[in-house]
Amino acid sequence: MEKQLLRLTVNGQEYELYINPKTLLVEAIRDHIGLIGTKRGCDTVSCGACTVMIDGASVKSCSVLAMQAEGAQITTIEGLEKNGKLAPIQKAFLDHGSYQCGFCAPGMIMSAQALLNENPAPTEWEIREGIEGNICRCTGYNSIVRAIDATAKGKYAEVKS
Ligand code: FES
Ligand code: FES
Repeated sequence: MEKQLLRLTVNGQEYELYINPKTLLVEAIRDHIGLIGTKRGCDTVSCGACTVMIDGASVKSCSVLAMQAEGAQITTIEGLEKNGKLAPIQKAFLDHGSYQCGFCAPGMIMSAQALLNENPAPTEWEIREGIEGNICRCTGYNSIVRAIDATAKGKYAEVKS
């Protein structure tokens, strides 16, 4: 299939890519742009490791074609840090030990940030619902929920990214 020009805006930076139109967004981000913080776990839209934000909402980047994201603002885990400082949600995950192997963490953090963008004061149940599309094999989820709750409660300063 003939390659096509795609302009993708990722973490505020525009990239011009010549890609097969069937390229998944996760492939464009990892293999073409080189931002490998976004993980590829299952390719069946089950694990959530590939979660990024598109215009502030969480999206599993293995579930959309890169072409479908043209014109949108894509944020990956690398884009949360500002001026060399971790985002509040990242600090909270560190502080609460909300990861062990770490494979799920980028996607989990992006889902958490998208939840806080939409609902800055979620209940515990809403937090659990907000990350239900993200699988963690290691932590048992409670430390993740506590980190999101602490972020929402302002312990790590502002929650909007
Ligand atoms: S790699 Fe996308 S949901 Fe698992
Ligand atoms: S920390 Fe290992 S999968 Fe979540």
